[in-house]
Amino acid sequence: MTPEQIRQYLEYYRDIGITHLNLPSAPAKVSATVPVVAAPPPVVAPPPIPTVKAPVMDLVLPTLAPEGDTLVKIREDIGDCKRCRLCQERKNIVFGSGNERARLVFVGEGPGADEDEQGLPFIGRAGQLLTQMIEGTAAKDKLPLRREDCYIANVVKCRPPENRTPQPDEMEICGQFLFRQLMVLKPKAICALVATAAKALLNTKEGVTKMRGNWQRWHGIPLMVTYHPSYLLRAYNAEAKKEAWLDLRKLFHYVLDDTKINPD
Ligand code: URA
Repeated sequence: MTPEQIRQYLEYYRDIGITHLNLPSAPAKVSATVPVVAAPPPVVAPPPIPTVKAPVMDLVLPTLAPEGDTLVKIREDIGDCKRCRLCQERKNIVFGSGNERARLVFVGEGPGADEDEQGLPFIGRAGQLLTQMIEGTAAKDKLPLRREDCYIANVVKCRPPENRTPQPDEMEICGQFLFRQLMVLKPKAICALVATAAKALLNTKEGVTKMRGNWQRWHGIPLMVTYHPSYLLRAYNAEAKKEAWLDLRKLFHYVLDDTKINPD
């Protein structure tokens, strides 16, 4: 790890209010406990899954995966997509990437400039924070989870101009491919990183603040909504960072606990 990466991790831990890092082993007789800032809140047992009572929006949910579907087939079906206006300015279609046997899938909103340039999801600043959020949270609780163990996709596969929020028809058209990806991946849990992803998957108008931290379900798969890393990058969002950390802890403990088939 480079000094810059170490600095970023320490900054992440400080922002989420972590006081101590229990290092795996210490040289000679030096204490392995390094004070950083304030005590982490305890992990609480997940409450029963609430049914989504959020107001429903005018979004026609697409049909689910055809028989024998695969990620390769989905990518082929997307082709050089011209199904909506987002094709006009895109450089690359950002299909999604990661472990195809992932237990956990993260769903973002849509590619930004860096992602559009390289055709890969979450590789810009928000993506770096997402990596820190995954790996920093897992490492803190000694959970064996890294970014490459997860799969990452977006609701829309082409960059919306000026990074605007995707429009309902764009989400509807592209959503069918996301749905198929999720049906093929069949993860143990899904993390919706923003209200747009929650809208596309749960057909709800509810904002992240109300939904976060509580289990929802997408076609029977437990789903956690939490803050998008772009939102957390804003300096005044330290409280939201802590909340996102709690959401991820809950999510990761469930995903990695082989004795649990249900989060409740
Ligand atoms: N924001 C997203 O929602 N997705 C990306 O891939 C990058 C930034």
